Amino acid sequence: MDTVEKYRRYVNTYFLKKVQPIVVDRGDGATVYDDRGRAYLDLYSGISVMNAGHGRREVIEAALSQMQKLVHCNSYLYHNKPTADFAEALASIMPHPDLRVSFFGSSGAEAIEGAMRLAKQYTGRSEFVALDSSFHGRTIGTLSVTGNWARKKKGGPYLPGVAFAAAPHPYRSPYGSDPSTCARACALDLERAIDQRTSGQVAAFIAEPVLGEGGIIVPPPEYFKLVKEILDKRGILFICDEVQSGFGRTGRMLAIEHFGVVPDIVVTAKGIADGFPLSAFTTREEIARAFTPGDHLSTFGGNPVSCAAALANLQVFKKEGLEKQAAARGERLLGSLHDLARRHAIIGDVRGLGLMVGVELVTDRAAKTPAPRAAVRIQDRMLEEGFLIGVGGGFHGNVLRLQPPLVIGDADLDRVVEALDRILQEAAA
Ligand SMILES: Cc1ncc(COP(=O)(O)O)c(C=O)c1O
Repeated sequence: MDTVEKYRRYVNTYFLKKVQPIVVDRGDGATVYDDRGRAYLDLYSGISVMNAGHGRREVIEAALSQMQKLVHCNSYLYHNKPTADFAEALASIMPHPDLRVSFFGSSGAEAIEGAMRLAKQYTGRSEFVALDSSFHGRTIGTLSVTGNWARKKKGGPYLPGVAFAAAPHPYRSPYGSDPSTCARACALDLERAIDQRTSGQVAAFIAEPVLGEGGIIVPPPEYFKLVKEILDKRGILFICDEVQSGFGRTGRMLAIEHFGVVPDIVVTAKGIADGFPLSAFTTREEIARAFTPGDHLSTFGGNPVSCAAALANLQVFKKEGLEKQAAARGERLLGSLHDLARRHAIIGDVRGLGLMVGVELVTDRAAKTPAPRAAVRIQDRMLEEGFLIGVGGGFHGNVLRLQPPLVIGDADLDRVVEALDRILQEAAA
């Protein structure tokens, strides 16, 4: 029985329309190879994970050397050096020195759950405010603060005490496409959500600084400053979900750095260890101390192999400035995609920060009618041509997502744009 057939028989993939029809065998930099040796340029990084590239030697060697010493003994019941060293290194990339104390889990959702619990215990309040079009994970708690029916359907009822506010999304904002107007109106909507759609017991506002699964939504520059003022007046914490936008993806180590505000809790995962499972929520000691004995733990969280990999990954970032590369390559890619948009009416919007880039497809530019079927067709054609891309985007699934390893070269990105151009021409013919 071959791998595809074994998947059909033994792996539950019924939650997907289809699994991409390739068997991925190995990876190197921004390229992966299937089991027949065919190369694919990876524009999705295993959903925005392999930021330092596939098969990153420094990361693998650090993990291997740790595996030969100790794989697991629980990182909370006993001390271990990789967990301590990585916790120190993670504090060094936070937007404020007070954000120093981390709790480690294994997945993004686990860390968001922990951050929500900590926010409740610290504030003594139980409600949350989140954004429309957001995504925070697949557990009941994280789906409760996810603003997307397409992800939540059939899984309810969810936690009570969650109110949603308008996403700061100029392209599809009911408040118009001017970014400043959109920022002010969406901040006011958040204020209304807090004051009129909750019982006044809000522990935290949770948001992604750039919304990933919602279709790469980049909030206007002033949005988070306006929001922070509203939160601070009411003693509400800001949980910043950097699970997808963190680790250099947007051209800064953390995407919130673009917005000039300091969150109270920062959640990281995905790109944290270049493919090894690890997540964290990092906060001020004063907040961290709201946990009392018995309140929290994780069996695999802070695993020494993952932490050794994560430390090596951060050293690679420091040595090579991968986030700066992402900023430069992303700007060039966005420029080329804007050129494409001038020639292809199906492109409704091109947006992004660094190498977190979305191309929204529409059947009618004026009405902005989503074109999800075209998005899937283009994804299939790109695969045939040797490019792995993502498709997502809120309710409609009409956004092509380009989130390659940050080590990708300009020449490879040019090849992506050329292929897209060709495929869009075919589609229009
Ligand atoms: C912003 C954000 N938060 C949380 C999660 C959940 O992470 P995980 O799949 O590791 O649980 C994701 C996953 O895509 C995400 O994009």
